[in-house]
Amino acid sequence: MQVNIKLAEVKDRNYNVFIDELVKINFDTKVAIITNPTVAKFHLEEILSRISAKEVYVVTIPDGEKYKNMDTIEFILNECFANRLDRKSVLIALGGGVIGDMTGFAASIFQRGIEFVQIPTTLLAQVDASVGGKTGVNSKYGKNLIGSFWQPKAVHCETKFLKTLPSREFSAGVAEIIKMAVVFDKEFFEWLENHDIRDGKNLKIAILKSVQTKAKVVSLDEREAGVRAVLNYGHTFAHVIENETQYKRYLHGEAVSIGMVMANELALKLGLLNNEEEIRIKYLLQRYDLPIDYKIKSAQDFYDHFFLDKKSNNNQITFIFPDNIGGYAMKKEIDKKLVLDVLKDFE
Ligand SMILES: NC(=O)c1ccc[n+]([C@@H]2O[C@H](COP(=O)([O-])OP(=O)(O)OC[C@H]3O[C@@H](n4cnc5c(N)ncnc54)[C@H](O)[C@@H]3O)[C@@H](O)[C@H]2O)c1
Ligand SMILES: [Zn+2]
Repeated sequence: MQVNIKLAEVKDRNYNVFIDELVKINFDTKVAIITNPTVAKFHLEEILSRISAKEVYVVTIPDGEKYKNMDTIEFILNECFANRLDRKSVLIALGGGVIGDMTGFAASIFQRGIEFVQIPTTLLAQVDASVGGKTGVNSKYGKNLIGSFWQPKAVHCETKFLKTLPSREFSAGVAEIIKMAVVFDKEFFEWLENHDIRDGKNLKIAILKSVQTKAKVVSLDEREAGVRAVLNYGHTFAHVIENETQYKRYLHGEAVSIGMVMANELALKLGLLNNEEEIRIKYLLQRYDLPIDYKIKSAQDFYDHFFLDKKSNNNQITFIFPDNIGGYAMKKEIDKKLVLDVLKDFE
């Protein structure tokens, strides 16, 4: 299965996302595979057996979001120089979203930019992070504040790689799948209600649908001037939850799950969603053991936190809501009292 990602501005940047089609990749250049010890242990050997290139190097970086920083980028670049990679060389990201974001960013600045290929090995990376060309690292001022838009040459999603993924990580990826269905595709949402995506065949379909959805959104709005922001449904709340819990208690997808539930409560009050739909979304999240509740310490503090998000422009936040299941509404002017009322329900 393949999805072609079309980018409006420049034709030759179109690329394909391949799902379960990785047989052999041939390069007539040098390549460096960027990975970490966790992923390497399970899947590096297989990838090495499928790649043929002039020379193949493996650059291993430590596992974890806390290493998603400029020091690691410098380490990757230095390895590339030491191995005499050149402007024609290709970087391959083998890992989750952390590896993908960093490899893409390193590729975008190594000798002013070289090609890179994504081999995402988490569900979240397959359905979300590897598609769309956002790359980067965290700074001490916040997450993903340093980076570039740099599109991969190709994305290879292999569902079999997900077999080694811890179930919490799997569910975190499902949260992003549900997110896309709720705001963009009613039929897909109903399909999710009727199919268990822990089953291999269904998983492949769910990945395909999600990639198609994200690809369509990105092709309409690569730089997030409009509709791409809808992918942040649940995220305005999630970022505050992640922050309040020091990124320790929840995986990102878990925080997004709670964030969607919070956004839905507000959508209910705005008449954008009805009770039955709200319950159906919750139910679907729960089926994958995703959290749907969170104890807010102070509604006012939580509210103030919204404005620390890099996505708040001029002290204004854009809320993304479902407009019934399958549609979305972007709203800038939401009455503070209404938001506080919803947040107080979580206190
Ligand atoms: N660029 C984008 O558009 C975009 C979108 C969403 C998220 N992201 C970024 O993605 C990152 C989160 O990605 P993630 O959820 O994949 O986390 P991750 O990359 O940290 O991976 C999660 C854990 O699973 C391990 N792992 C990866 N593949 C495995 C496998 N097949 N088997 C067993 N273990 C495996 C990893 O080593 C890690 O410990 C964040 O940094 C986030 O900012 C980027
Ligand atoms: Zn997300």
